[in-house]
Amino acid sequence: MRVVSGIQPTGKPHLGNYLGAIVNYVKLQDEAHASGGRCFIFLADLHAISQPHDPTELAANTREMTATLVACGVDPAKTVLFNQAQVPAHAELQWLLNGTARMGWLNRMTQWKDKAGKNREGQSVALFTYPVLQAADVLLYQATHVPVGEDQKQHLELARDIAQKFNNDFCSDKDPTFTLPEPYIPPAAARIMSLRDGTAKMSKSDPSDMSRISLTDSPETIMKKVKKARTDPEPLPSEEAGLEGRAEAKNLVGIYAALTGRTAGDVLAEHGGQGFGVFKPALGELLAETLKPINARFAELKNDGEALDAILARGASQAREEGRDTLAHAYRALGLVRG
Ligand code: TYM
Repeated sequence: MRVVSGIQPTGKPHLGNYLGAIVNYVKLQDEAHASGGRCFIFLADLHAISQPHDPTELAANTREMTATLVACGVDPAKTVLFNQAQVPAHAELQWLLNGTARMGWLNRMTQWKDKAGKNREGQSVALFTYPVLQAADVLLYQATHVPVGEDQKQHLELARDIAQKFNNDFCSDKDPTFTLPEPYIPPAAARIMSLRDGTAKMSKSDPSDMSRISLTDSPETIMKKVKKARTDPEPLPSEEAGLEGRAEAKNLVGIYAALTGRTAGDVLAEHGGQGFGVFKPALGELLAETLKPINARFAELKNDGEALDAILARGASQAREEGRDTLAHAYRALGLVRG
């Protein structure tokens, strides 16, 4: 079992990142640790430069996101925790894979289409080739499990396509360079939606802070945001089918389910018939309780830049070691001569 995933150190991590991905980093880290596997979690700082950014903020966010991950339970003693920029093999392997990835594949990526919008010509080349770097990230460590939210599924399918084509084109059946990675997507929290619009994903880049719960929000802020969340006037149904066409209600029930480790059906069996005047405070309290210990741990860690840098340096040194053989294999397969 080789678990690999990354998160961009841009903006503040939010509930979608937590329930969609970070919770599973911790779950799979523990499973990998118990079964003699390996877990790699990294800050995708190289991905972060694909869009306009402030260098000072990127450096600060990289440390802050490291503190957040540790506060959420990513344990540097069990997980190789690092930032891409300290492991040149990510960028190297991306270049090697650029020879295999097809323009048509990248052109079909919905994230590229969404982020570029009508202004494709004005985007950085990095934004276009972003998914190839993401493929390099996971293939470098022979990932088997990749914990992500639903929005990254297409990128993971592309990573599989690239791995398969590379293995077919350049390797013998007995000696493939890459393992095909599987996405690991949580059923209840695959896509946490904005609190202001049940059809839009909760996202770091939404201009409205009321659209998301940040992991560092105070209990009062959390309660305020949940109470102000957009909903319809109907009470909750008692079965899941009754959530059809009620995106906002479905989202809040999904969040409640993910936080308690239950299904939406179970949550409705208990809360069905309640109006939002009752359900929202219950959800707000549950959220505040869940995030309280994370907040406390984050506050302890965030100002200890030296400790955070030490975690990243140690993780990077392990990652450089772990990626070495696969990178060498890829160079060899391509017929590139290295001393
Ligand atoms: P990023 O930084 O946007 O998000 C980090 C993780 O959080 C998940 N996520 C969500 N899950 C559920 N609901 C939401 N509203 C929500 N918003 C974000 C994302 O699916 C992701 O798992 N390209 C990646 C970073 C990356 C990566 C990788 C991931 C780079 N290389 C290799 C996996 C493997 C990204 O921008 O995630």
